[in-house]
Amino acid sequence: DAGKGSYDHYMLKEIHNQPTSLANTVEGRIEDDGVSLTELDTFDGVTDVQFVACGTSYHAALYGARLLNAAGVRARAFRASEYGTADPITDETLVVAVTQSGETADTLGALERAEAEGARTVAVTNVQGSTVSREADETLLVRAGPEIGVAATKTFSSQVAALCLLGHRIGEDVTGDLPWDDPTTFFESLRSLPENVREVLDGDRAHELADRYLGSEAFFFIGRGLGYSVAVEGALKFKEITYEHAEGFASGELKHGPLALVTPQTPVFAVFTGTDDQKTLTNAKEAQTRGAPIVAVAPEGHPAVDAADAHLPIPDTDPALAGLLANVQLQLVSYHTANLLGRSIDKPRNLAKSVTVE
Ligand code: G6P
Repeated sequence: DAGKGSYDHYMLKEIHNQPTSLANTVEGRIEDDGVSLTELDTFDGVTDVQFVACGTSYHAALYGARLLNAAGVRARAFRASEYGTADPITDETLVVAVTQSGETADTLGALERAEAEGARTVAVTNVQGSTVSREADETLLVRAGPEIGVAATKTFSSQVAALCLLGHRIGEDVTGDLPWDDPTTFFESLRSLPENVREVLDGDRAHELADRYLGSEAFFFIGRGLGYSVAVEGALKFKEITYEHAEGFASGELKHGPLALVTPQTPVFAVFTGTDDQKTLTNAKEAQTRGAPIVAVAPEGHPAVDAADAHLPIPDTDPALAGLLANVQLQLVSYHTANLLGRSIDKPRNLAKSVTVE
């Protein structure tokens, strides 16, 4: 317990460690407005990228694939356990295994298939010397530091930051395009990331919302594009540690089915990342019309703030990083809700930090 310092749980300590862990992830890897990843060969000649991962790492992989798409690179994220019969692989395919522990059996199985079929492989992991880093051709360490809480927090944000760096390099090498509209703004935002995360943590008012919505029937999370990865990650975190029913949806899909679940007893957390926000706001309002309280996760002054019933603020930043900040707010909502419910936050029932069976 001494390791928790003044925090009640490792998870809360790890949430609060993010300014430091994110600084470590990018340290020495940004040069002017460019990226230096000397541990990785050129990606020249790569035609497509397949991410394989599980759980929270899969949500980081979804984020990474979207970034590559924005740079004009063909990329998709696969759940490692579903990868066996997925898209064909050629020797120009790059397979990126994203795994915090580096020991997840499903992810190692997917990597094995990729290697057997001749793909080049890169591991993105938090653990140096882990099985994945020994098996893959190359390794990009996320450098978040050890994570004790079963629910991944700081390793997710560091995976996202590492995948931003990787996305920049792959874009440069493969298409010559970058995932960012304005690289200068992106790099400024990347440098400000630790301070922006600190701002979210210092202004923590998620406990008020946790209290207000305690006892709800279900908790929904919606987002679009990068915001979709954050919505599904927000819902996963919520179910893992609160044991309450939570689901993440692509905001545009709400009207194609999930809206039938929406009632005044189902708060909807809407993630706004600066891309197609007007559409997400329209989708959030469709839920609000059915009586659901809407929580906007968005910068101050955003049009969603006035329309919503509650607001979790994030600092202004590049659209590529807004989702990472929104995710910190959602981590806090999950944590405070689980705490009010007296859950076993660091060791949720039935879950393990690392799953070594398929
Ligand atoms: C377990 C953990 C999750 C984690 C997943 C993948 O299910 O409980 O928190 O996201 O494994 O773990 P990995 O180490 O591969 O990122």
